[in-house]
Parts: sequence; structure tokens; C-alpha cells
Amino acid sequence: MTITNIHKDTKFDIHPLLKERWSPRTFSNIPVSETEIRSLLEAGRWAPSCNNFQPWRIIWGIKGSDTYERILNVLVEFNQSWAKNAPVLMLGAFKKTNPNGEENFHALHDLGAFSAMLTVQAQHLGIAVHQMAGLKFKDALTEFNFTEDYHVATALALGYYGGEKSDLPENLQKIESPKSERKLQREFAFNGNFSETEGVQRKKQPLN
Ligand SMILES: Cc1cc2nc3c(=O)[nH]c(=O)nc-3n(C[C@H](O)[C@H](O)[C@H](O)COP(=O)(O)O)c2cc1C
Repeated sequence: MTITNIHKDTKFDIHPLLKERWSPRTFSNIPVSETEIRSLLEAGRWAPSCNNFQPWRIIWGIKGSDTYERILNVLVEFNQSWAKNAPVLMLGAFKKTNPNGEENFHALHDLGAFSAMLTVQAQHLGIAVHQMAGLKFKDALTEFNFTEDYHVATALALGYYGGEKSDLPENLQKIESPKSERKLQREFAFNGNFSETEGVQRKKQPLN
């Protein structure tokens, strides 16, 4: 599966980088260079964050390195089964407190912004990013010397789009395709009061 196979039923015009992005579980075996990884991290570096606290902390490793194996080891078994083929693995952590020692309620949000910026930069390079919540976060904390003031929230598998479905366990081969399902805008965006729209019958509603 390559990026040219994507069909997303977008209702309004969006940039091709966004339209073509998806989260595959197979990757080409073309290596991702350290320079490319640095570009991705740089894109994240310029993400907006609450008070410019930049609470994200990233661990990264290239396949074949000790760090890569240590990241792989803290993923849950399901994610290990496919992420072990990715040329690059990362962990996304955040600092839970602000410089005054108070809880930073927006730190997870800001890690998400970092990951989104990194993902768009990756897409620009033809590199796919598959984020994961399925990791043993307490193990990750100790494995990589974080203190209790940090939370390891996500992992990311990265590599050029490509690879074969046969690289995957059988159960994952069946579901390896871009997701076309999305909520309609009317289900999450309100030009006025919020209203609970879960369960709306989409076919009977206007497109947006
Ligand atoms: C924070 C986060 C956690 C996720 N956790 C996992 C995971 O543990 N394992 C997995 O296979 N995919 C995981 N995903 C991928 C999502 O399932 C995927 O992004 C979603 O189905 C939409 O598909 P798309 O990214 O191809 O558009 C995660 C994505 C995000 C953003």
C-alpha cells in the first residue's frame, strides 16, 4: 500500500499532505536517516505549546540500535507484533508540571501538537507515522530514566510508506488499509451551543 492509493471522502478542501496521511502497520525497508529524523523532531520543536513550556520529551531509536530494542520492549505485545518492522521508533513523553511546580493541564495536548507537526513534516518526506497508546508506560518511565514528574504517553512507529501485508500477523493483514471512517463536522463542531450528537444517523443528515 502506498500513499497514492488513498481515498478520503473529504467534504471540504484540505491539503494533500493531510489527505494522503494514514497510519500503516507496514513500512518500506528503505532506511530513515538521522538527518530526516532531525527534520521531523525540528518540525515538532516549533509546535505551539501552552506558555511555550514545550513539555514534550522524545526518545528515539533507529532499527538495529540498542535504544530501538529498548523502545520496542516497552510496547504492548500487540504493537510489538507490527512495530518491530518500523525503521524508527519513538516514545512521546511530557513533563507533568510547569516551572512553578504546578500541574500543567495542557502538557498532553502539547505533546499531541508536537506529534501532529512531526507527522505532517514526515508526510512531506513520504514517511508514515503510526502513533500508539499501547505501551507499558511505567516500564518506559524507569527504562529511560524519567522521574515521576514525567508521563510516557505515546509511542510512534515511523518509516517510508510501503512494505508488504505479508510482513504482518494474519489478523492485522485483514485490516491493513487507510481508515475512511470519520465523524461528520456536525458531530464535533458547533457554531453555537454544544449538543450531544452521538448516534446521529449520518445518512439522513446533510454532508457537513
Ligand atoms: C494517541 C494515539 C494512540 C494510538 N494507539 C494505537 C495503538 O496502540 N495501536 C495501533 O495499532 N494504533 C494506534 N493508533 C492509531 C489509530 O488507531 C489511528 O490513528 C486511527 O484509527 C485513525 O487512522 P489513521 O491514522 O490511519 O487515519 C493510535 C493513534 C493515536 C493518535
